[in-house]
Amino acid sequence: MNMAVQLNNSEKRVLRVIQSDKTKNWTVDELSKVTKFEDQAIIVGAGQGLSEKGLLNETETKKVFWKLGKEGIRAFSNGLLELKLWKWVKNTNDTSMKSLQSSSIVEKNEVGIGVGLLKSLGIVLEKGSFIIPENKEEINEIMDERKLFLDKIQSSKTGILESDLDIELLNHFKKRKNLVISLEEITRTWIITDVGMNISSESLVEKELIAEITPELLQGNSWKNAQFKPYDVSLESSTPLAGKPHPMQSLIERIRLIFLEMGFTEIEGDYVQTAGWNMDALFIPQDHPAREMQDTFYLSNPKNIPIEDNILQQWKSIHEHGGDTGSIGWGGEFSKDIAQRGLLRTHTTVNTVKYISNNPNEPCRVFGVGRVFRNESIDRTHLPEFHQIEGIIMEPGANLPMLVTTLKTFYEKMGYPEVRVRPAYFPYTEPSLEIEVKWRGKWLELGGAGIFRPEVTEPLGCSSPVLAWGMGLERLAMLVLGLDDIRQLYISDLEWLKSQPVL
Ligand code: PHE
Repeated sequence: MNMAVQLNNSEKRVLRVIQSDKTKNWTVDELSKVTKFEDQAIIVGAGQGLSEKGLLNETETKKVFWKLGKEGIRAFSNGLLELKLWKWVKNTNDTSMKSLQSSSIVEKNEVGIGVGLLKSLGIVLEKGSFIIPENKEEINEIMDERKLFLDKIQSSKTGILESDLDIELLNHFKKRKNLVISLEEITRTWIITDVGMNISSESLVEKELIAEITPELLQGNSWKNAQFKPYDVSLESSTPLAGKPHPMQSLIERIRLIFLEMGFTEIEGDYVQTAGWNMDALFIPQDHPAREMQDTFYLSNPKNIPIEDNILQQWKSIHEHGGDTGSIGWGGEFSKDIAQRGLLRTHTTVNTVKYISNNPNEPCRVFGVGRVFRNESIDRTHLPEFHQIEGIIMEPGANLPMLVTTLKTFYEKMGYPEVRVRPAYFPYTEPSLEIEVKWRGKWLELGGAGIFRPEVTEPLGCSSPVLAWGMGLERLAMLVLGLDDIRQLYISDLEWLKSQPVL
């Protein structure tokens, strides 16, 4: 009999208790006391489970309670709007709207609603002034009732049962915004059914639930009759906080892998450079605004770094009249002193130019991710120290479509398939491009690129075209990590770092 009914431990305990009184309707509180289950959810779960199996009958009753809403609380402490107005109307000589508006009886934005409330009680405006009607006493009574109604609701923290309230007044206040709010309480009770009564007490003995399977358990026989605790995959669990690389480091690693996979070789360079290699070799005129102190960190030690004179001489002739390149140069007088000034590199293009100068005739594909320095003030999108992703392709026949395809491929592999280029200007490339990536529907500028001018390549002894680019790493990181402030990358906010995915 009833062999088919499978009960869990909490259902067994609840049923045992309810069986003890055939005629009683049990509430959650009563069951909680007797079963010693403190968690009401366990009792409700067991009660519902037993009802579904036909062992109990469940009755659900809904009770509605009313409490003061935001405006109700205000009305309780400051007085009801219509009451304040009514008192004023009764006690002033000048009941005109004008005098109301200049008084501080009610707030400006409440005047309209207040006038409406008075009108609905028969207090009308005539020629701009309120008229006290005949039935003054009746209105006094209504005002008192409303006030008492609010007092009553306020008297209980948990609210007043709807059936204990005057329904007409409640309906009135319900129509007013945020004056009263309702709370519903559902109470369940359970009573035993005949089927429930027939469940034998032996089958209501609780069994120990095994939560952990151990070697000892499996070696013995006790597991054969044991009950196992069901595994609840919906429970919350803690997130393991494992050590992991900083998101910027992971990102650099990803970028390196992409370029290596595309057949590039990695190069590096020093932070400390000369203005000559950082700028003059790139045909940046010596009076270019970007060379000013406001943009570039010049060093006091080493203030100057000597450069071989034959190199200085080449830059001089290129800058002054274009050397043998057919260019007319920038004109003016080239200063070898300026070229030998020490500075912190302002872009990683200095690395690729130096690489070409050391390997002018070997076709190559090289790249590097490196730190650069600019005298920028810090804001949401600027840092004085940041990183560039620099690269070149040098080979006979290298051309613009190759450059664009390479950059598109890189961003596609990073997960940004929509890339476009736009015309730009750099003193060292012709043509010059700006690279933009589409992110959340907007085009974002991520870097510059172009083909090195003969004024750059010829003095280096290089005769093949050189495709070159330099792109911002932090801007890209902002896209990858979904940040709108670049500073977030470096403030070492532990909570943020912990929550970052492993890239
Ligand atoms: N050096 C440029 C910058 O710092 C980028 C660039 C590199 C442009 C190579 C053209 C060619 O923005």
